[in-house]
Amino acid sequence: MIRINEHYRKLTASYLFADIARRVAAYAEANPHTRILRLGIGDVTQPLPPAIITAFHEGVEEMARAETFRGYGPEQGYAFLREAIAREDFQSRGAQVEADEIFVSDGAKCDTGNIQELFAQDIRVAVPDPVYPVYVDTNVMAGRTGAFAAGRYAGLVYLEGTKANGFVPDLPSVPVDLVYLCYPNNPTGAIITREALSRWVDWAQEHQALILYDAAYEAFIRDPEIPHSIFEIPGARKVAIEFRSLSKTAGFTGTRLAYTVIPKECVGYSADGTSQSLHALWHRRHTTKFNGVSYPVQKAAAAVFTPEGRAQCQALIDGYLANAARIRACFEELGYFCVGGDNSPYVWVECGMDSWAFFDMLLTQAGVVCTPGVGFGACGEGYARFSAFGSPETVDEALERLRRIVPARS
Ligand code: MLT
Repeated sequence: MIRINEHYRKLTASYLFADIARRVAAYAEANPHTRILRLGIGDVTQPLPPAIITAFHEGVEEMARAETFRGYGPEQGYAFLREAIAREDFQSRGAQVEADEIFVSDGAKCDTGNIQELFAQDIRVAVPDPVYPVYVDTNVMAGRTGAFAAGRYAGLVYLEGTKANGFVPDLPSVPVDLVYLCYPNNPTGAIITREALSRWVDWAQEHQALILYDAAYEAFIRDPEIPHSIFEIPGARKVAIEFRSLSKTAGFTGTRLAYTVIPKECVGYSADGTSQSLHALWHRRHTTKFNGVSYPVQKAAAAVFTPEGRAQCQALIDGYLANAARIRACFEELGYFCVGGDNSPYVWVECGMDSWAFFDMLLTQAGVVCTPGVGFGACGEGYARFSAFGSPETVDEALERLRRIVPARS
């Protein structure tokens, strides 16, 4: 008899964005004449910048000639890309990261989901609430939690993000071995200061804990005081792993390229207390389970780090940030409390009613899709997330429709 992994049965029925897509598809089928405006999932809409397209074409052309054709590449990524990332993303900001500490992959979703394989079954895991659901669901699948009840899994430590703490949770008040942090935050758009991030690094050092730092949205930071990488913080190299992605920063959601940084001195511990290199473990896993990102995609990715590519990506991001600013301004004018949208593509709005009821109201009365905050955790109830990744026209039309139906709050 083929038995299943029973832990999958603890999962909520479907992945948040699959659930939303199903509801939107049902509405679209019933209302074929309504143009649906999507400010829900954080999926980019603008084309890849020209410098990236040129490099992508060159990569494809190289694959068409025997002299330049390439088969399997290095699983961790080509040196030309890893060196560009180390130099441009980290060393240029004073963060000590070497090219061989970078693992190129096909997505930060996969990497943040897979990394938990390196850790023991019985570690204590902390996640923020609200949270990107991948961190939670992959630990559920791995059997690190109990059952789901009242919006939470038994066995996980939830670090509450609330209006009172500006959606930047405090350090855990109970023992924890592994913590997931994401800044600029998905879903709230909140940012973390250098001082607050330093407190996390000090905490991790003191407790022999590990921080999984998701920096997929760092390119949206405009305030020069905000750290882009946890490796800008002294001491982080021993206690942190960082995840980056070109999905939102360079329009790669459909092209696929991300990278994970594991410093050589970053360690976990064996049952006998000896320290073990997490870089070595992930290297072992990566070479066993992954065969590298395709050459043309890596070639395209390297163009992101050229002066031309940088400028074009910044322009792309500026456009999304301008959308975010208009979304936030619209809700603030209507009297709603908002977070994010300034150093982030997400605007987190206190909707003043049940999150799913608000989602349904926007969909059925305005044909506008948002993401209900409760889908990111119990602390997201009463909130909705708006993504700024539409075209300016889509965003403006959505805001015009929303102004007509969303009640003003005093
Ligand atoms: C989101 O909308 O939260 C993101 O698109 C999810 C992701 O990047 O996987």
